[in-house]
Amino acid sequence: MRASAIAQPNIALIKYWGKRDIERNLPAVGSISITLKDLFTEMQLEFDTSLDADSLTVNGARDEAMLPRLSTCLDLVVGEDRPRASIASRCNFPIAAGLASSASAFAAITIAAAEATGQHLDTAALANLAGRSSGSAARSLYGGFVELENREQDVAVRELRDAASWPLQVVVAITETGPKPIGSTEAMEISRKTSPFYSNWVEKQNEDLALARDAIATKDFPKLAAVAEHNCLKMHSMMWASRPPTVYWNSATMHCLQTVRKLQRSGLGVFFTIDAGPQIKAVCLPEHTQEVRSALTATAGVVDVMLTGIGEAAHCLDAT
Ligand code: PMV
Repeated sequence: MRASAIAQPNIALIKYWGKRDIERNLPAVGSISITLKDLFTEMQLEFDTSLDADSLTVNGARDEAMLPRLSTCLDLVVGEDRPRASIASRCNFPIAAGLASSASAFAAITIAAAEATGQHLDTAALANLAGRSSGSAARSLYGGFVELENREQDVAVRELRDAASWPLQVVVAITETGPKPIGSTEAMEISRKTSPFYSNWVEKQNEDLALARDAIATKDFPKLAAVAEHNCLKMHSMMWASRPPTVYWNSATMHCLQTVRKLQRSGLGVFFTIDAGPQIKAVCLPEHTQEVRSALTATAGVVDVMLTGIGEAAHCLDAT
């Protein structure tokens, strides 16, 4: 009744924003992501019939904020009549700050819960279960370049290309380490209900997915850069136009964006993407990584810079 699992966060190049089924947490659009390498969440989980309640520690400190969502995730994987669990999470990057910490957390806990209870589920089933808790978590069950497609009743996730065959690098510029002002679920609903751009966003997503899929298949960096930046800015424009507006950026986010533009003008292979938070992720060709890193480190308002590559799928570490 005990297991541990590790998962890396992923960042979407073609974004998921909006739900078509709130109850089952099904996305309104497909998405394409890369699974990261050196950032991780490790979940140690133990079910114990003598416990009265679930408990959670994050990096050694008790945490009540994340616990309800993790408990619901355990109910989904194991059933509501399950024994209570003690969960110990270890995470080596800022949590809930737009760095996809929920993706790695829910991917890891889903695997650990299934293994601890002797359910040897295949990756497709695990991805669907993880996706019920956090849409983007379904993608962390796979490594490399990953596509999540909508099917009628669920989602289908697959690896489009492995990490080794196109080893792009990612420089993450942290502009703020605190939690984001509004969670993605709430913000997605505001966009769906009030943004005048929402229906166009959903309608056009397949075009962006096709371009990105093709760019990844042919390792066409400029093509991937163009569609990823377009898709990211479109997602944020939709949020900015909602009522109330959702603005995840700060002034340093904008400075980073200008730094990336400058690097592009000088001929470097780099593009940006931004999720539900103020951090910039600069995806770059391996040979240009150091220049991108130095330029972002020197950008006004950047408090930290992390460098990583494309990583492998989430997996179980041990189970007894
Ligand atoms: O899976 P969630 O609910 O954390 O939403 C993820 C939303 C974005 O990170 C902005 C986009 C994405 O596809 O990961």
